[in-house]
Amino acid sequence: MKIFLISFILLSVIFKTYCFHDGRPEGRGGEESVQVNDKIYFMGGTRLIRSLKEYNLSDEVFYLDLSSPFNIKDPPFVDLTNGTSRMLYGNEKGVKGIQPSRHRSTSTVIKPNGTIYIFGGRVELDMGSPTLQLYNDLYEFDTILLSWNQITAPNAPSPRSHSTATLLPNGKIIYIGGVSQDAAGSQTNLINVIGIQMFDTISLSWSTHIASSSFLIQPRVGHTAALTSDNSSIIIMGGTSSYQLSQTTVYPNLIKLDVSSEPYQYSELIPSGINPPPPLSYHSAHIYIRII
Ligand SMILES: *[C@@H]1O[C@H](CO)[C@@H](O)[C@H](O)[C@H]1NC(C)=O
Ligand SMILES: *[C@@H]1O[C@H](CO)[C@@H](O)[C@H](O)[C@H]1NC(C)=O
Ligand SMILES: *[C@@H]1O[C@H](CO)[C@@H](O)[C@H](O)[C@H]1NC(C)=O
Ligand SMILES: *[C@@H]1O[C@H](CO)[C@@H](O)[C@H](O)[C@H]1NC(C)=O
Repeated sequence: MKIFLISFILLSVIFKTYCFHDGRPEGRGGEESVQVNDKIYFMGGTRLIRSLKEYNLSDEVFYLDLSSPFNIKDPPFVDLTNGTSRMLYGNEKGVKGIQPSRHRSTSTVIKPNGTIYIFGGRVELDMGSPTLQLYNDLYEFDTILLSWNQITAPNAPSPRSHSTATLLPNGKIIYIGGVSQDAAGSQTNLINVIGIQMFDTISLSWSTHIASSSFLIQPRVGHTAALTSDNSSIIIMGGTSSYQLSQTTVYPNLIKLDVSSEPYQYSELIPSGINPPPPLSYHSAHIYIRII
């Protein structure tokens, strides 16, 4: 008999000092992470330099080895940041199409066939742009053919950053939360999580779907969204209700969006157990199934 063990893996954003120490990466936030078989690879993010009250962008790459059970107090991280594994930025040789300009805090997913969809994002001072500007561009990058393509489809959402992107098995991408902007240079506004934007990668079309909820859900940024292994729901965790240095924990902190039928339906999750993680934002979350 097969028993499915579901582990919810979290990387906290408690900022510490630099680099990889005693087998552990230093704390960070806003990193990118991707699960490949029994490894979760982490890339980049920002680390706080306390003395300067500034953030240092990371070019580090490391992974968490999930192949055997482990004690959560001593996670098996493996550092790949040596001469060759640091992240590079630039146009690789042989890449076709027009590479998009550099944005951060985009909403990105990869389809099982190897095509990456990159939506929205922003530029601001930390990327050399004196003006804060959010985008609503959608690009696809074919990782097999190494080619870029900009998708222009009607009814694209307003410019936004930090929305989560979740791919459903039917090829639809669901974008939740984050912040939007009315015009370049203006302040950002939190996006209501009830209004869900969807891009269909088969028909190449955008649509808006209003989810139902019987309780108030604060808008949020820096949250995560992970599809459950039965493809029926998206687990949305953490985030903050401000986009400033003083961050406010969102309520509810853990919610579920049922995507098995429309209208999609939110419910609140109340976890049991001891030693729950602290309220998190700009973290990563993956659902991993170990077959034992
Ligand atoms: C920023 O991080 C890089 C490594 O990614 C490191 O070499 C550099 O010293 C750091 N800068 C500061 C000011 O800490
Ligand atoms: C970088 O680390 C990986 C994994 O430990 C190792 O296989 C590789 O040889 C290292 N490369 C260099 C240049 O040290
Ligand atoms: C993957 O799927 C997308 C959309 O269905 C398609 O445009 C793309 O060509 C596919 N890529 C490959 C390598 O088959
Ligand atoms: C969920 O979707 C994946 C494809 O993304 C599929 O392999 C899997 O069988 C689906 N699971 C269920 C329970 O439908």
